[in-house]
Order: sequence, then C-alpha cells, then structure tokens
Amino acid sequence: MTDTDLGLALPLPVASAELEDRLARRRSAPAQALSRPGPSREQVARILELGARTPDHGKLFPWRFVVLGADSRAKLAEAFTPLAQNQPQPDKARAVLGKLTAAPVTILVISSPVPSQKVPVWEQQLSAGAVCMNLEHAAAALGFSTSWITDWYSYDADALALLGLTEGEQVAGFIHIGTLAEPPLERPRPDLSVKVDYRD
Ligand SMILES: Cc1cc2nc3c(=O)[nH]c(=O)nc-3n(C[C@H](O)[C@H](O)[C@H](O)COP(=O)(O)O)c2cc1C
Repeated sequence: MTDTDLGLALPLPVASAELEDRLARRRSAPAQALSRPGPSREQVARILELGARTPDHGKLFPWRFVVLGADSRAKLAEAFTPLAQNQPQPDKARAVLGKLTAAPVTILVISSPVPSQKVPVWEQQLSAGAVCMNLEHAAAALGFSTSWITDWYSYDADALALLGLTEGEQVAGFIHIGTLAEPPLERPRPDLSVKVDYRD
C-alpha cells in the first residue's frame, strides 16, 4: 500500500472460518517462554506495516515504535536494575526484568499524542492500545506468539528517559515476539452475560 493507492477500493470482509477459529482461540504467551525463532527484519517490517493499519481519530497516527533487538534490551535491563531499588518490592522488580530480555524481538509501542483541537488525548491513547493488539494479530498471522507487557519501568521517570520518551509520551506496551515450545493454556474469560446489555 502506497500513497498512490489512496482511494483504491479495498475488499469487503468475507466470512473466514479459519480467521474466526484463530480469534476464538488466540492467546498471549508468557513473555519468558518466548524463544527463537523470532521474526526476521523483513517480517518485523511487515508486522509493523500491518499493525499500523489501525483506526485513529483524525489520522493523527499518535504513536511511534522502537524495535528492540536482544542487545539493546540487555543494555536496558542492566540500566534498569539499579532503578528497581526504588520500587516497593525491589527483588520482584529486578526479577521481572527477565521478561524484558527473553524474546527474540520486541516492539516498544509509544503513545505519542499530537496536539489537536478536535481529538481528545484519551482517544489518541486508545489508538495506541489498538496498535498493540493489531501488532499481536499481525505477528500471529506470520506464525509468531506475542506478549504485551508494561511492567514498572513503563512508569518510572528515569527508565522512560532511558527509553527516549519525551513529555506527554507514554509506554503503550512492549510487544515481545517469538515462538513458544509448548502451547499456551486457556485462562478465564469474561462472563459476557454481565458485560453486555443488548438493546433494541
Ligand atoms: C496494557 C497491558 C499491559 C500489560 N502489562 C503486563 C505486565 O506488565 N505484566 C504481565 O505479566 N502482564 C501484563 N499484561 C497482560 C498480558 O498481556 C497477558 O498476557 C494478556 O492479558 C493475556 O491475554 P490473552 O490471554 O487474551 O492473550 C498486560 C496487558 C495489557 C493489555
């Protein structure tokens, strides 16, 4: 899809039992269980291209990505380690850094609201969340498992500076991508009878 495709008629949805089944049984991975193979550089680019096809009010594209390979995440985990001391449970905060470094590839999704008279920041942040979910679907389409994590370092000012976030930006998620050796186990799902109000 390029700018020259603007205005091109896109296909209408067609029922797909395969897609329906995959959505019905999709499940995140435990981050620490994600191992190789991960997506190649070309596959990461494709995952980003698909993931960024996400609704956002006003076409502001109020998010950006940082693709983190193993080396950059190892350095981040090292730099975050002394910051764990400031957390209420330092040992636990240090331990969860293992989730940051396990997967072959990670896409950091940064909510980056754009000044707008028309579109509230909340809606721009929702779009960043939608991008995270869409990246997970895109990675799944290419045969990879994912884990969407934030953890304490997404809310620590010093850690955010190390990640390169600027004023007004927030971490929407670290999308860890790789392959699971064992199938994930089902978890509780919401009782929709108490969540849905059908109205005529
Ligand atoms: C915004 C957001 C942040 C999350 N942060 C964490 C986290 O820091 N640590 C964690 O263990 N799980 C975290 N999770 C939960 C995992 O993504 C979890 O694997 C997921 O909710 C499982 O959902 P699924 O079974 O539908 O795939 C987060 C989820 C979301 C949506």
